[in-house]
Parts: sequence; C-alpha cells; structure tokens
Amino acid sequence: MEGQHSFYKLIASIVTIYILYVLVNDFVVDPHAQTFLSYKTGLRRELKPQIWLIVMYIHVGFACVAMASGLMNFSTRSYWKRRRFHRVNGYVYAASVLIVVLTSGYMAPYATGGQISSMGFNLLNIFWLLITTTALVHIFRKQIIQHRRWMVRSYAFCFTNMLIHLFTFMLHQLIGQAYVESYVIALYSAIVLVLVAPELFLRMEKPFMMFRK
Ligand code: HEM
Repeated sequence: MEGQHSFYKLIASIVTIYILYVLVNDFVVDPHAQTFLSYKTGLRRELKPQIWLIVMYIHVGFACVAMASGLMNFSTRSYWKRRRFHRVNGYVYAASVLIVVLTSGYMAPYATGGQISSMGFNLLNIFWLLITTTALVHIFRKQIIQHRRWMVRSYAFCFTNMLIHLFTFMLHQLIGQAYVESYVIALYSAIVLVLVAPELFLRMEKPFMMFRK
C-alpha cells in the first residue's frame, strides 16, 4: 500500500514540475517559441507564425489542464469520496484532450522533421481520441474497472511532450545527434512508450489499488 501511495506522489511531483516548466518556458522565457521554430527548415507548407503561436498557446494551456485534471481524478479520494467532482473533472479532462488533439491536428503538418513527424503526431491524435472515447463509453455503461484501465492508457499520452523533450535532449545534447533527427527518433520512441508503459503498469498493479493518495 505504501508503494502505491509513493507512486502517486512521484507521478504528482513529476506532473507538477513539468507543468511549471512548460508554463515558464513557453509563456515567459521564450513566448514566441523562437528556439523551437528555428529548427523548422524546408517545410512543405508555409507556416504563419502568428496563427501557429496562438494555436500553440491554446495547445499548451489545455495540455496542462489535461495533465492536472487527469492526475486529480486518479486519486482514490476523488472517485470514492467526491464523485461529483470526479465526474465534472473527468469532463474537463475529456474536453481538454479534444482541444489538444484539434490544435495538434493544426500543428502536425508543420512538425519539426517534416512528413514523418506529421504522421507520428497524426497517429497520436487518432490513438488518443480512440482510447479516451473508449474510457468514456465504459463509464457510460458503468464498467468502472475497464473505465479506469482505459483512463490509465489515455493519461499516458499526457507524457508525450515530456518524453519527446527528454529523448531529444539525450540524443542531441548528450550524444551529439543532429537536432531534427533526434526529434524524429524521440517522437517515435515516445509513441512506443505511451502505448507500452500503461500495459506494463496495468499488469503489475492490482485493480483498484494503484494511484492511492
Ligand atoms: C499533454 C501534454 C502535452 C504538453 C504539455 C504539450 C506541449 C507542447 C508544446 C510546449 C509544444 C511546442 C513545442 C515544444 O516546445 O515542444 C507542443 C507542440 C506540439 N504538440 Fe504537444 N503537448 C502535449 C501533448 C501532445 C499530444 C498528446 C500530442 C498529439 C496527440 C501533441 C501534439 C503536438 C504537435 C503536433 C506539436 C507541434 C510539433 C512540431 O511543430 O514539431 N502534443 N506541445
């Protein structure tokens, strides 16, 4: 039980630190995303920086809401003691996922790395929508265990950006691989991880015992 408690705290700490990092980096340190945009060369479509930036702000804002609301709903206190909060917060999560996917759909054609990256992001969009919808359908049918399992799978997608940055940093800064190649490899590694990690997690934990607060 103590291990489960600690795991929730670990995830909560990572999520909190990452949300703060993203907000400070994208809205204060580099509000025009100049560093990130500087790697976009040879794009097939002309990128309109003003529109892209607005879409990126919306994307980042709702991505942070999805990370925070999803985390809160995994707390056992939320779904047993505060069921109304859990339901409303769940809809906030689902709406945020939809907005992140729609904004991602706009940004995908301009993704760093070109068509191969665009494909990766579009795959993520499709998977995330399908998985989150499956989780919702289960709860509409009152299938709580399946709902929770699909929500674990859905929540893993909230770590996509963090994983891309982590892998890009390792490949580019530590190993010296070119930035764009590092980014593409990082993107596909992140896709594999957000799909595989929840399966491993679900196999290891006993139903209903994990993510306790
Ligand atoms: C929920 C956590 C997420 C956060 C905090 C987040 C944040 C960000 C940020 C800050 C950027 C700007 C570039 C950068 O600094 O990385 C970005 C770009 C992007 N994100 Fe997300 N994101 C998240 C999840 C996702 C997911 C799940 C998808 C796909 C379904 C996605 C698709 C995109 C796309 C397509 C871009 C543009 C990439 C490019 O131009 O190369 N994001 N995101």
